[in-house]
Amino acid sequence: MSSPATTPAASREPFRSNPAWTEALEQLLARRYSCRGFLPQPVEPEKIERILALAQRTASWCNAQPWKLVITSGAATERFRQALVEQAQTPRTESPDFAFPREYHGDYLARRRDCGLSLYAAVGVARGDRVASAQQGLENFRFFGAPHAAIVTSAEPLGIYGAVDCGAYVHNFMLAAMSLGVSSIAQAALAQRPEFVRRHFGLPSDRVIVCGISFGYEDPQHPANQFRTPRADWRGEVTLLDR
Ligand SMILES: Cc1cc2nc3c(=O)[nH]c(=O)nc-3n(C[C@H](O)[C@H](O)[C@H](O)COP(=O)(O)O)c2cc1C
Repeated sequence: MSSPATTPAASREPFRSNPAWTEALEQLLARRYSCRGFLPQPVEPEKIERILALAQRTASWCNAQPWKLVITSGAATERFRQALVEQAQTPRTESPDFAFPREYHGDYLARRRDCGLSLYAAVGVARGDRVASAQQGLENFRFFGAPHAAIVTSAEPLGIYGAVDCGAYVHNFMLAAMSLGVSSIAQAALAQRPEFVRRHFGLPSDRVIVCGISFGYEDPQHPANQFRTPRADWRGEVTLLDR
């Protein structure tokens, strides 16, 4: 049984536009980045609950709200971290529930390369240094030192649209977190071994793993936090038609 539904009272008030809201959203979008170096200090439970209450307003197909999360703190994070790091160093025998991209080509390949090179330059991994890049990759399973890890699951029968809904949820989670001074990173890396994750948390087989989110307070001095990713001009991505 799900808990009682909630609707914010303000949602029925007439509304046109509010420049302060646009400005706030602009700030949040501009300032959010994928944090890859966290302080160990845990996030206050009431702040986590506030993030979750905000993210729960995410739109989803038929309002199904298919996201269910497991969120770790304290000893639960340490147990999961240790188990994942151990797992990540054994050969992978399972596939993600949602297939990872088959290929990056053209602009996508260039942007992927760019973002990887920026990270490596920031943390001092030399081009072609496979040992150092594997070490940096392993940081994913350490949650980059975050005190909290979230596993985002969807319902298997909802297929790809369940994952689309979860994707929107993940971004709202990250923006809500940012608005409260909490940094985060979405991680497909945590969806690489879904059977292992389901076993670890005792999740049923019809909960499919979409991705993880590590979150906490940023370490502003951490080398991995010293770069930001650019975005393409939207005009290259959108076709506007008026006739
Ligand atoms: C669904 C999703 C999965 C991601 N998975 C990973 C991951 O496994 N490891 C990682 O370091 N970054 C991951 N990222 C972060 C992206 O690399 C990052 O969002 C992108 O480079 C844009 O940079 P920004 O978030 O700093 O703006 C993921 C992001 C998203 C949205």
